[in-house]
Amino acid sequence: QKDLSCFNTLGLKSLANNYISLCNIKDLSGISDLLKPGVPYFILGGGSNVVLSEQIDQIVVHNQLKGIHLVQETDGAWFVEAAAGENWHDFVVNCIRQGWYGLENLALIPGTVGAAPVQNIGAYGVEVKDRLESVVAYDPLTQTEQVFNNEQCRFAYRDSIFKHEEGKGLIITAVRFRLPKQWVPVLSYSDLQQYEGARPQLTPQAILEAVCDIRRRKLPDPKVTGNAGSFFKNPIVPAQQYWQLKAQFQDLVAYEQPDSRYKLAAGWMIDQCGWKGRQLGNAGVHARQALVIVNTGKACAADIIAIARAIADDVMKKFGVLLEPEPVFVAARH
Ligand code: EPU
Repeated sequence: QKDLSCFNTLGLKSLANNYISLCNIKDLSGISDLLKPGVPYFILGGGSNVVLSEQIDQIVVHNQLKGIHLVQETDGAWFVEAAAGENWHDFVVNCIRQGWYGLENLALIPGTVGAAPVQNIGAYGVEVKDRLESVVAYDPLTQTEQVFNNEQCRFAYRDSIFKHEEGKGLIITAVRFRLPKQWVPVLSYSDLQQYEGARPQLTPQAILEAVCDIRRRKLPDPKVTGNAGSFFKNPIVPAQQYWQLKAQFQDLVAYEQPDSRYKLAAGWMIDQCGWKGRQLGNAGVHARQALVIVNTGKACAADIIAIARAIADDVMKKFGVLLEPEPVFVAARH
């Protein structure tokens, strides 16, 4: 049995009956022999986007593959590959240090490189899909490697093929990034614009520091307080529904999407329901960001599920909008 309490940022008590650590690409075929069709398994990365149940019978494959290298340099871009088990933030910092710019807005996001494309991580105006060239994945059932180019990953807001039936069982081994040499800062996010005024020279390093500052102010450090970042996705609704809501709630925060639908700020709605800083059982809502559920000390999956349900129910009652969780729930059995 393996205790997974330290391998999930919510800090939930969780025991795995079948745990395999994947540290070397050569171990893949051996591991694949265990993952026969019908045998349930799931891939654990940095554990920053999962709600683990107390006992897990499925095979847990802990992806700890390491390595970062420059694959190619062209006139226009750097092509950098990182193994799936690399820590995301360390990878971002490493890239900036090498002069490979473009990932600075995504600094300090917890988790691993391999998990980044699964839910298409995004923050401060950039999504990983904007910088991603391809994903290398291994199919344990056919024991073959597949390379997915950006389009084949079917990226959308917090979504990709790797969250759906066709891609769920794949083991992502590496991610390749395309980082243009012509660096263009992304400052569309209002918190970052405020920072810009205060900085004499705008560099990738300065943006990285600003993003880290903003995140540290708003989001709890998982090393101190267990959490999984935003617990719900920002719901996207048709324009008509947005205008109806806006008429009723003038302060509603929303962003128009390229397809003319609107993405509503779930944190604002949860805040309006009075949840900020509140506690239920062993879980609570962060005092500075209502979208973040925290473990107040001894939480297990049931505590997190109970508070998430109560929050979603309140938002449904007040706004008529369905909140969908962002993390993946890992049940005892598949
Ligand atoms: N707001 C409130 N009260 C709150 C929280 C937010 O009124 O308690 C308002 C804010 O004032 C702001 C708006 O809601 O006007 C949006 O808040 P914020 O800028 O903090 O961003 P978010 O929409 O809550 C998203 C991502 C974050 C990402 C930030 C910055 C999702 C689900 N979350 O949060 O991603 O860091 O934007 O780009 O899309 C994550 O996915 O884990 C995550 C942290």
